[in-house]
Amino acid sequence: MAQLSQERGCMRCHGMVTKFVGPGFQQVADRYRGDATATARLSAKIMQGSVGTWGNVIMPRQPQVSAAEASALAGWVLALPPAH
Ligand code: HEC
Repeated sequence: MAQLSQERGCMRCHGMVTKFVGPGFQQVADRYRGDATATARLSAKIMQGSVGTWGNVIMPRQPQVSAAEASALAGWVLALPPAH
């Protein structure tokens, strides 16, 4: 999954731990920990884009990512260990 996130360009904007252009993936995991609906919501956001959840910077939609990949990436992000 780490390699897929590189190949799909996620790491141009995201770090694993701290905020860069977008939130760090461990910050995302911490925010939604224990939220059973998060995988589905985040995979939709990865494909369609997002703004306003973490600030005013837009995550453009990611058309290079298939639905299956978006779901796998969302699950991977959400399963990351706590940032601290
Ligand atoms: C052009 C920069 C950019 C790229 C490329 C990008 N993101 Fe993001 N991402 C952002 C920004 C900015 C936000 C915060 C959006 C917001 O505040 O709603 C974000 C938010 C997110 C969130 C949290 C959404 C939420 O509602 O909390 C996830 C998960 C995520 N990105 C995953 C990915 C994945 C996986 C990829 C690669 C397929 C990716 N991003 C590619 C900039 C980017």
